[in-house]
Amino acid sequence: MPDIGNSLRAAALLAFVVLSILVSLLISSVQQFGARISDFSNATVAADEKEFASLRGALIYQLNERRKEIIPLLLPVSDDDDDDDDDEGGDENGLPGERRYSLLNDQIQDSMLDSSLWNEITHGSRKAHMDDMDCDSLVDMQAVEILGSGYTKLVVKVNLAGGQPVALKLVNEQGIDMGKCVEDFKDLRGCRELVSYKLKKEIVLLQRLQHPNVIKLKGHCAGNARGRGGEEGRVTVILEQGNPLQMIQLLQSPWEDRFRVCLDLVRLLHFLSQSPLGSVALLDFQPRQFVTVAGELKLTDLDDASAKETSCRMDVDCTLQFPHRNFTLPCSSRGVCEGLNEKRNIYNAYRYFFTYLLPHQAPPGFTHLVDHIMNSTGELKADINQTLEAFEHILLLYKSGLHLDNLPPSIIRDFTVMRGMGTSGNAEYRCWPSYSQEGCVLSVHSAREGALICNSHSQCNSFTLTGRKTWTGRLLASFRSSFSHLVPDGTSEVYVKKSKPPEASAA
Ligand SMILES: Nc1ncnc2c1ncn2[C@@H]1O[C@H](COP(=O)(O)OP(=O)(O)OP(=O)(O)O)[C@@H](O)[C@H]1O
Ligand SMILES: *[C@@H]1O[C@H](CO)[C@@H](O)[C@H](O)[C@H]1NC(C)=O
Ligand SMILES: *[C@@H]1O[C@H](CO)[C@@H](O)[C@H](O)[C@H]1NC(C)=O
Ligand SMILES: *[C@@H]1O[C@H](CO)[C@@H](O)[C@H](O)[C@H]1NC(C)=O
Ligand SMILES: *[C@@H]1O[C@H](CO)[C@@H](O)[C@H](O)[C@H]1NC(C)=O
Repeated sequence: MPDIGNSLRAAALLAFVVLSILVSLLISSVQQFGARISDFSNATVAADEKEFASLRGALIYQLNERRKEIIPLLLPVSDDDDDDDDDEGGDENGLPGERRYSLLNDQIQDSMLDSSLWNEITHGSRKAHMDDMDCDSLVDMQAVEILGSGYTKLVVKVNLAGGQPVALKLVNEQGIDMGKCVEDFKDLRGCRELVSYKLKKEIVLLQRLQHPNVIKLKGHCAGNARGRGGEEGRVTVILEQGNPLQMIQLLQSPWEDRFRVCLDLVRLLHFLSQSPLGSVALLDFQPRQFVTVAGELKLTDLDDASAKETSCRMDVDCTLQFPHRNFTLPCSSRGVCEGLNEKRNIYNAYRYFFTYLLPHQAPPGFTHLVDHIMNSTGELKADINQTLEAFEHILLLYKSGLHLDNLPPSIIRDFTVMRGMGTSGNAEYRCWPSYSQEGCVLSVHSAREGALICNSHSQCNSFTLTGRKTWTGRLLASFRSSFSHLVPDGTSEVYVKKSKPPEASAA
């Protein structure tokens, strides 16, 4: 029993864990299969039985295929791992030979061997290496609302017993994946298992691809043979809770917030281009794969992430096809398409995000920098390092106010400043895109930029630097046409125009 096969011993700790879940799934499949078959005791149902067996066989084949997809993700990355995922025929010497009946039996053996290790990891001292929360964390939770759903998964916001909100990802019983599977295989439980593999894959990917712009995995709960965590094969992923990305809302947000989403995306793609799994492409690259957590963009749907490299003989084998553009990339001397995953991500970022979010209302000082980014990503002329550099450069300028260098210092002399004061009885006006619905609240680098903006709004006669800051550290300034009182406010400063527009400062 404690004798562990060579391939397993070689695998990382994580490999043991996930392999064991995966393989115990297969056991249950077989047990279920056996149970069903024994129900049929009548010759007249033999035909049905035959059909059922063949469907079941096909489903088991699918389960196995899904499992094989995950295994390479558990292993340390190697330069050419295209063909090393055939672990099930491989280690003849690892196990006593006489027990190797079939593919399936091998897997059952393996799972029995490492189930004790699985227990040790989930319940024992090694838990710290794993994600923290487990089935116990979900006891007495309260469902709050459905956050989203897709082809495969349902995402629910719950409050844990301690009150902490988290997002739970489950198989979407009403989803297209489940629907198709049940239609094909007529086996609800088996299909749940099959679709659960996407959640398992996501767990593995979330553990291996940890980054500030990837949703944080807080834990998971997998149903096991002793009934903990519900039905065998059921998987619940516990994630930090975010807000689904609302593109429409984002389009109406200040440029600073839209820039942040794009910058976060580029930081993510930079990480993915040289991740622990190699260069990862996001095959399904749409805004709905992302959420924001406190304004920060996070990738939440990883089941379509792929670290596969495309092999090639000539450059024409390395064509990236998009609806309005095709690109041909170089085929490297080792016969793989150079930078294909990275370039695919960059172009998708351009077409799904940058074109909508970046150029519109960019600060005048940045238009040429933004144009350059749009062109170099839209034409795939820059790699992800260069793209990230261009974004970080803009951020630096924006934070330091260097792009405002040509503001005349004198502009502030048109205003009287009252420090430690706020206003009440305000006559507000609206501007766009404002941080507040009621009035005109914009971010500024300094009082000077505030003065510039106030001078450019015909209704503006005063503004307040509120002491609140945006994510870049810029100050939130509230612009208004008038106010009735000054009130003490230690955190803010009021700037009042000295006289009616002295002379439009545009000169
Ligand atoms: N941590 C989270 N916090 C808040 N909402 C989330 C979270 N994770 C996912 N969502 C929402 O749930 C939706 C479905 O999740 P997910 O994309 O993983 O499912 P899916 O079935 O793979 O979807 P698709 O069919 O779009 O690929 C997402 O589009 C997102 O809006
Ligand atoms: C077999 O099934 C038929 C109907 O499907 C039933 O009439 C018959 O009694 C069954 N025989 C046995 C031995 O169960
Ligand atoms: C891209 O390539 C495909 C296949 O060769 C072709 O059918 C399509 O017209 C091309 N699209 C563009 C925009 O060039
Ligand atoms: C990039 O610039 C070139 C030359 O000015 C122009 O022809 C091309 O359309 C631009 N591409 C994009 C994606 O903006
Ligand atoms: C990109 O930057 C990383 C470090 O951030 C570096 O390791 C890598 O070699 C760079 N790639 C290219 C193509 O310059």
